[in-house]
Amino acid sequence: MPEVRKRKWGKLVALGVVLAVLVPLGYLWATSLVPGQYNPADMGYADYGGGTHSMGHMDHMGGMSVADLTGPKTGTPDVNVTLVARKQKYQLASGETVDGYTVNGTSPGPLIRAKVGDVVQVTFVNESVPDGATLHWHGIDVPNAEDGVAGVTQDAVPVGGKFVYRFKAEQAGTYWYHSHQVSSDEVKGGLFGPIVIAPATPGEVVATIHTYDGKRTINGRTGSARVNLPAGTPARVRVINTDNTVLRVGLLGSSYKVVAVDGHDVHGPTLTTAAYALPAGGRVDLEAAVPADGLRLVAGASSLSLGIAPKGTDPPSGDLPGDTVDLLKYGTPAPLGFDPSKATRNFEYRIGRTAGFLDGKPGLWWTINGHKFPDVPMFMVAEGDVVRMKISNTSGQAHPMHLHGHHVVVLSRNGVAATGSPWWTDTLEVGNKETYEIAFVADNPGLWMDHCHNLPHATEGLMTHLMYEGVTTPYRVGGHSKNQPE
Ligand code: C2O
Ligand code: CU
Repeated sequence: MPEVRKRKWGKLVALGVVLAVLVPLGYLWATSLVPGQYNPADMGYADYGGGTHSMGHMDHMGGMSVADLTGPKTGTPDVNVTLVARKQKYQLASGETVDGYTVNGTSPGPLIRAKVGDVVQVTFVNESVPDGATLHWHGIDVPNAEDGVAGVTQDAVPVGGKFVYRFKAEQAGTYWYHSHQVSSDEVKGGLFGPIVIAPATPGEVVATIHTYDGKRTINGRTGSARVNLPAGTPARVRVINTDNTVLRVGLLGSSYKVVAVDGHDVHGPTLTTAAYALPAGGRVDLEAAVPADGLRLVAGASSLSLGIAPKGTDPPSGDLPGDTVDLLKYGTPAPLGFDPSKATRNFEYRIGRTAGFLDGKPGLWWTINGHKFPDVPMFMVAEGDVVRMKISNTSGQAHPMHLHGHHVVVLSRNGVAATGSPWWTDTLEVGNKETYEIAFVADNPGLWMDHCHNLPHATEGLMTHLMYEGVTTPYRVGGHSKNQPE
């Protein structure tokens, strides 16, 4: 072949190679794009978990809108508060300056307190959060329209706007509220606070743990703080982890009981000195009588603690012990109130990771059952279903999995059956290479997020929904309302 023709062929071959790489890449890129606006109810593909479904039935029902699944609309609320969100520079209780978000001028926001049976009304005002904001009642199984998820159960509240949440407090326990609009940024920046459903007792200590700009705090204080309690007081320490990763906590100075997990009492708790691994988003109530020398709550390292001690004493300090409470066998069994062996839906939630594009961005992305967001399974149920779900994780990292609107009970971990107290949870740490079997009753109709509470992971696609057949939503993710729940 003459030199010129050879070069021409060479160029064509090179072009062919380039195209062979670029065209599939371009295809992968293009198919990864998430529409600018989408209906969260139409996301992904329906997974009926082997249960029956009848479109006819749904048509018959004509659909039930998320917007209609509200709490009690009328009646004087027993608890009536206004929470105002701002973007601002503020000072932590221990003095450091943070540029983030506040609720009523502080972070953590004010403690909301209610009793079981109370109607709680919260008027949420967005004074200056530019991306908009909402309040989600983490762990409180409120009616769907009160769940506070932007683009799913409401529109994000814009600057100058407000939204009234109303729900009946049904389950005593420790909870927290946080924005569910651009949550990975707004929660990190401070848009959250504690809520306790139980009467205040003299020994109650609420410890909300959060990391602001790399500074980990208890109730907004770095270092060690203290509360004075007379010796002998039964202290109930309500610990809330508002960060993105698991945190070991525990009491020094006395053995203690793990009396509640995620707003559910533990049955037959026994004394322990082990530490407790508190998942991101999770809560735990620790109980001990205050000894003469006092107690100390330690969060992570010994450098962050809260003394709980009689005036003038210096409670013991130090590191947490190396062993950890295992809820799989802690406490004693009790009836669940339903029979998981009669499951009408069986789901798998397999968490993996793959290289590719998500919304046009190359990277390593989470997968659910091998699918990348938004092409993820939509777990479909009908009211009354007994649901089993096997959550497995081979993604290389741990994930604190949070299902909205329901508490789930742990049946087994890595094939080992639970033998302790019923382990009710709303935020379950699923470590790498772990498999949990959980069960719950579908008793709260709606469209519910089911996501990782390491919030950047949710932004990276570790997010799907539990959806009741026949439920529709008028809200959209994206679009002019700029809803962006993660
Ligand atoms: Cu604590 Cu989906 O949220
Ligand atoms: Cu995760």
